[in-house]
Amino acid sequence: MTTSQSVMALAPSEITVLARAVGRAPSVHNTQPWILRFRGANADLVERTDIELPRQDPEFRDRALSCGAALAHLQLAARVLRRCDSTNYPAHGPVVATVHAVPGASPAEPELVRFHAIGRRRSHRRRFAADPVSDVDSAAVAAAGAEPGVCPAVPGNLGELGRLLGFATRVFRADRAYQRELHAWTAYSFGAHGRGAESGVPEAAFGDDSLPAAGLVRPATPVPDDARLADRLGGERLLFFCTDGDGRRDHLAAGAAFERAWLEATARGLAGSVLTQPLHLLGSRELLAERLGLPGLPQALFRFGHPVATVPLSPRRPITDLVRDTPLRTEEDRPARRPR
Ligand SMILES: Cc1cc2nc3c(=O)[nH]c(=O)nc-3n(C[C@H](O)[C@H](O)[C@H](O)COP(=O)(O)O)c2cc1C
Repeated sequence: MTTSQSVMALAPSEITVLARAVGRAPSVHNTQPWILRFRGANADLVERTDIELPRQDPEFRDRALSCGAALAHLQLAARVLRRCDSTNYPAHGPVVATVHAVPGASPAEPELVRFHAIGRRRSHRRRFAADPVSDVDSAAVAAAGAEPGVCPAVPGNLGELGRLLGFATRVFRADRAYQRELHAWTAYSFGAHGRGAESGVPEAAFGDDSLPAAGLVRPATPVPDDARLADRLGGERLLFFCTDGDGRRDHLAAGAAFERAWLEATARGLAGSVLTQPLHLLGSRELLAERLGLPGLPQALFRFGHPVATVPLSPRRPITDLVRDTPLRTEEDRPARRPR
């Protein structure tokens, strides 16, 4: 390594900041399908192709969306470390993106604010408080999720949306193979009430009145009639993240986009959750695009509002699992406190 390269190289303490940020990204069923590799000033985000959800995600779309959300965290953390975040997207292979984290300018205020929201963001699958989200907050959340190639769109026809979500719900609720897979990724099912779980959705995160419009459908999830579903949707702010294309690059961009919107919402004291489950029903995305007049193919639905309760944080793998072959600064590396 030349001297200028070694000056630019990421230090173990910086790698730790990047890895911690990536580790807290949302992912389908909390599978965390990524690892990080570091080379000098470059950070490779690698998709874990060994993690599969054949029933929820047969086309690996959610896995790529999840990697997109992780990428948004990686880029934000790089900016907060005053590193530039020019990013390359290899078209093939397990490396989905390489962030060139060379020294750069100070982060902008919105980047700092969203970075600090990373530790507070979580999936809020419950009802929201009755007080409406202001138009200013709503516009700021949508603006944060506008990314080249991705269009956040407010669905107009809630009756139609209620009908399509209701139909998808009934299909997934009755799909036993789907339910087995979801159960396997429920942290509670890991034994001893999920203690020590490092992945999966904790039981407490499902909420107690998890209507299908709010999250993952299980055999006991109440399914109201379509009209009630539409009524409930009317009390929430909704954004579909749409793309023109449907390739890996589109999925990464959509994942990064909804995550920026989610962090902006969190920073503004709002809460939300992302849904893709109904979009995995064959033909449902095309139907939604047509019936709701969406500006592209929907990749994810983000619902947000004012929280009524705090949802517990979901578990994560340790960052030593996430970063391979790279020295990290861990708690043990901290200089010992001098006795007073
Ligand atoms: C691509 C993607 C798809 C998701 N799909 C759903 C979904 O359909 N329903 C749901 O309730 N949560 C969904 N989630 C949320 C995850 O379950 C959640 O991010 C994960 O359990 C980690 O929890 P956290 O968001 O509280 O950190 C999805 C997340 C991602 C990134």
